Amino acid sequence: MDKQQKIVSMFDNIAKSYDIANRILSFGVDKNWRKKGINLALSTYQKEDIDLIVDVACGTGDMMGFWEKEARKLEIEVAHILGIDPSVGMVDVGKKKFPQFEFKIASATEMGLESDSADIISIAYGIRNVVEREKAFVEFFKTLKSGGLVVILEFTKDRKRGLVSRSRDFYMNKILPILGGMISGNREAYTYLPNSIGDFVSSEEMVAELESVGFETIHNLSFSMGVSSLIIARKGVSDV
Ligand SMILES: C[S@@+](CC[C@H](N)C(=O)[O-])C[C@H]1O[C@@H](n2cnc3c(N)ncnc32)[C@H](O)[C@@H]1O
Repeated sequence: MDKQQKIVSMFDNIAKSYDIANRILSFGVDKNWRKKGINLALSTYQKEDIDLIVDVACGTGDMMGFWEKEARKLEIEVAHILGIDPSVGMVDVGKKKFPQFEFKIASATEMGLESDSADIISIAYGIRNVVEREKAFVEFFKTLKSGGLVVILEFTKDRKRGLVSRSRDFYMNKILPILGGMISGNREAYTYLPNSIGDFVSSEEMVAELESVGFETIHNLSFSMGVSSLIIARKGVSDV
């Protein structure tokens, strides 16, 4: 099994306890980060009718639920919300929670969607798990309409190393593997999470990667004093 297959099979194994573990381990604050990201993206996009939002690495579908709710509050019509993820286990949970949405088993690197078809592509706490990240960014760029947005939420590596980021690392390295292991019965998976953040790029490095495939950065923000990052980038109108 290669590295990517191992990651996906780890998510297959923890799929059933993923939602409850996620809510407990993040103290529920991830909901606010998701809503803020979505609202900023919708206000940046400025369209009242949206054909297609693709949520990549959709897992059990929470982000898709937030897209639907937040768009409705703003009276924005979204014709189609599609979730993409290579983990059958995660998607099976998502399908039961959200029967109104379409899901597809595929990788971020090969989504199999038409070029220039998506208005918005989001990926929440997923890009860290995509081994061939640049290939995924090229795929996102190809799939987006001109003027379309990519919205990335992620725990990026913090280069400033302040008190909050050190506390986050302590929580993630020492406490989360134990709690996550207890909830899911899979300690290995919850040891992978902090390790994958430690090995991951900073948000500035990710912005540079996005720009190198043609994206134009609109927002690069962090929430809760650097715990979570939000990047919103656009496929420029001149890039058609
Ligand atoms: C931490 S979960 C996040 C799930 C969901 N987005 C959320 O916010 O709860 C990471 C997800 O990334 C998915 N994943 C792993 N490798 C991937 C790939 N190459 N392409 C797309 N998704 C991938 C996993 O299957 C898993 O569902």
